[in-house]
Amino acid sequence: MKDSHGRTIDYLRISLTDRCNLRCIYCMPDEGVEQMSHEDILRIEEIEEAVRVAATMGITRVRLTGGEPLVRKGVVDLIRSIKNTPGIEHIAMTTNGVLLPRMADELKEAGLSRVNISLDTLDPAQFSMITRRGKLEDALAGIRAALDVGFDPVKINAVTVRSLNQDYLAFAKLSIENPLHVRFIEYMPVGESSGSSGCGWGKEDVVPSEELIEIIDERAQAEGLGALIPAGGARPEGWGPARYYTFEGALGTVGFISPLSRHFCSECNRLRLTADGKLRPCLFSDVEFDLRDALRANDTEAAKAVFAEALGAKPDDHHDKVGTERGMSQIGG
Ligand code: GTP
Ligand code: 5AD
Ligand code: SF4
Repeated sequence: MKDSHGRTIDYLRISLTDRCNLRCIYCMPDEGVEQMSHEDILRIEEIEEAVRVAATMGITRVRLTGGEPLVRKGVVDLIRSIKNTPGIEHIAMTTNGVLLPRMADELKEAGLSRVNISLDTLDPAQFSMITRRGKLEDALAGIRAALDVGFDPVKINAVTVRSLNQDYLAFAKLSIENPLHVRFIEYMPVGESSGSSGCGWGKEDVVPSEELIEIIDERAQAEGLGALIPAGGARPEGWGPARYYTFEGALGTVGFISPLSRHFCSECNRLRLTADGKLRPCLFSDVEFDLRDALRANDTEAAKAVFAEALGAKPDDHHDKVGTERGMSQIGG
């Protein structure tokens, strides 16, 4: 489907739940956010119907997000069913990885194509500080499980925050010895208006990708690892706006996602479905369209009309507005 700005929209991000087994400080307060009620959350059959409708309208790629998608009951069967939906070619997931050692086999078997794993630091103490209740070794075990089971590509999402003093080069080096695609993401100060994160970080904590590329390139050369070079054909499959580089001889790549320093709205290809059944045309706009009523009424034509309405409402650009009413755990990133 084409939106009113001529962009092809064929990618649907579905947030399966706003719950999570971690509490990253930029995402949720320690006590958690006020959670959506059980009744408000789309049932698995309703998500399946949403995907069927989306597929008839031109969606070919689906990503499952959260909260943490793997804490949602029925996720494996849902993947199988989405995979078997006529018109859907690929299904991917963004996860914190903690449950992957337990679940990677069945996820792969059910038809999940690939995973992006969130990991913001390689320092155990810093990991526990950021996630509040996670252990670095569990996330690393998740990454290993993803590689062992044969997900390809496996990507790492590292949100960069100036006041965290992360070791960027340690991350970049992961891509040399392993077939991993490490993406540095500019921190987006969203959800502040709802007080959902309350971590106190703001625009001054954004590390622009260009600055990061220079830092990594310089440190890598100083360590004799060579320069970062554009990845060209080594670029992993992806539906998002990351730009990829690599080190000569590396098994993986280093990517940069720059929502603040380099607008990629003109290439936008996606719609979002929240766990409570709202279609969201833009991450940064709180305008949402209720799909749940149509799904609950089993009214396919009405559901198609809601998709069409959401598509028509996609803005051309977020025009420097970054904040949102809902936090990331409710939107799915
Ligand atoms: P690939 O298909 O592997 O390229 O994944 P992706 O980049 O589409 O998805 P992922 O869930 O891994 O998201 C990576 C980062 O991009 C996260 O920080 C998301 O919040 C951010 N992101 C995803 N979609 C959008 C978007 O439409 N706008 C902005 N500003 N950021 C986005
Ligand atoms: N800025 C940038 N990325 C974020 N994510 C969550 N919150 C933010 C934010 N404020 C990332 C997560 C996950 C993906 C879905 O979005 O780390 O990898
Ligand atoms: Fe959970 Fe992801 Fe939010 Fe961390 S960023 S609390 S892993 S949903």
